[in-house]
This record gives sequence, structure tokens and C-alpha cells, in this order.
Amino acid sequence: GRPRDLAGRKVVVSAGGTREAIDPVRYIGNRSTGLQGYALARTAVARGAEVTLVAANVALPDPAGARVVRVESTAELRAAVLEAAGSADVVVMAAAVADFRPATRRDEKIKKTDGEPDPIYVTKNPDILAELGERRRQAAAVAGHSVVGSGDGASRGAGPGSGAELGPGDGALTGGIPGDGVLAGEVPGSGGVGGRVGPRVIVGFAAETHDVLANGRAKLERKGCDLLVVNKVGEGLAFGTPDNAATVLVAGGDPVEVPLGPKEDLADTVWDLVAARLS
Ligand code: C5P
Repeated sequence: GRPRDLAGRKVVVSAGGTREAIDPVRYIGNRSTGLQGYALARTAVARGAEVTLVAANVALPDPAGARVVRVESTAELRAAVLEAAGSADVVVMAAAVADFRPATRRDEKIKKTDGEPDPIYVTKNPDILAELGERRRQAAAVAGHSVVGSGDGASRGAGPGSGAELGPGDGALTGGIPGDGVLAGEVPGSGGVGGRVGPRVIVGFAAETHDVLANGRAKLERKGCDLLVVNKVGEGLAFGTPDNAATVLVAGGDPVEVPLGPKEDLADTVWDLVAARLS
């Protein structure tokens, strides 16, 4: 049996991959199946956590005991994650989030007979993980706490074009993407209301092919998270397979190697490290 070391903890896990509509029938997407995120959700339930699973385009049955919010686009995933994060102890961003989306979405299907096709222009999506780190850093600063997580690097991650612009001293999210009503506006539960400074532990995932430690360490700092699970890609691993191998980078600590094995094993290593940071 597993330890019940997440009993009473509220955990948010994102899983799967976001899709960005080109027209009513087409999208830009990725190959993420959601298996690792679902393994994280299942194991967190088993360890006693209250789990919200934000699932983007996943063809897997709902894990027993988790609250599941199904989303399609990055805008929907962002809204669901930030809303749940407002009262969460832990957020794990295991979803593959589309970095770009079409700048405009056609209301009608693009037809072959329309003549020469128009190019599809894309625009950058907001980095949700960096926003979580930045919000926590700002809320901590407003509350007069010392900065948590891996330093102030998150502020650099939310630069121009990231869609995550925060006004000076403004604990609430006022950013969003110009012309995109879904992403604009405040997020409920944000801004350190009631002394809360956001999730105490923020976990990201990254796929790196080379210089895993150096690239991963830079990403951990840039995004202001506590743990970064760096997947080794390019060896027939990760997408769609039941097994995974990874290095878990720890803010202020030594990396933890997780050998090739079931995605549950990697999930349990993540929860071991999360539980240690919560206690
Ligand atoms: O920068 P990169 O895409 O490698 O970072 C991956 C991590 O950041 C994952 O945890 C992913 O869920 C998260 N991410 C995000 N928003 C984005 C892109 C990635 O939260 N727009």
C-alpha cells in the first residue's frame, strides 16, 4: 500500500494535450495521450489527496475519486487550472500545452475550392506554469513573505508576447491576450486572498533531448517551479507508452533519477518529493 501522506491536501493535475482550432473541423494539436497525468491523479487519490484532474482531449476513463474537468483549448485549460489552483496546495502541469494557436479562428470550414489557401498565422499562448510561479511570487511579495519556489526567475518567463503581463505590484492576473475575451480578466481565488500565497508546491514537466540537466535547471528557474520532471525523449519513450524514465530536478536540492518503469513509479516519486516539501 501507499502512504496516505497527501490526506487533506488539494491537488490539481493537468493531463493530455491542448488543441487549437483552425476552423470548425481542424486543429493544431500534439500526441500527448494523458497517461502520465492520469497516473499522477490515480496515485494522488490513493495517497489521500483531493484531486482535480484537468484533462485536455484524453480518451481515458475518469480515474475513480478524482474531480475531472474536461477541456480542449489552452484558454480553457488555463481557466480551469488557475481557478482550481486558487485553493490548491499543489499544482502539477503534466499536460502538453500548445505553444502557439492560430491568430484567428475561421467560423466556416476552409474549403479546397476557395482557391489558393491563405497562410495560417499563429500567435503565442500564455505559459500557464510560468504564470502560476509568477502569481505565487507576486502574492508572496504583497503578503510580505519571502519568495517561495526557485527564485525570481518566473518574472523573466512572463515576458512580452507570453500573454502573462502583470502590472507592477498587482497580485491579480490582468493579462491575457488582446482580443481574446476568454483569457482576459481576473481569475477567481487569485492574488493571495485570505493570506494565501498560491499553491505551496508547483511541478512542471519538460521534454529535453540534450543537455538535460542544464536546460532543465534553466527552465525550472525561468518558470519559478519547485520540481521539474525532465523526460528523456527520442528513445521510443514517453508519448503513448505505459513506461517513462526521467530526471526530477528539485529547486534547492539534488536531482532524482527515475529509471525506466511504469508511469505510476514516476508519479509516486513526484508525490514523495511533493509530500516532503509540504511537511
Ligand atoms: O516550456 P516547455 O513547453 O518545455 O514547458 C513545459 C511545461 O510547461 C509543462 O509543465 C507544461 O504543462 C507547461 N506549459 C504551460 N503553458 C504553456 C507551455 C507549457 O503551462 N504554454
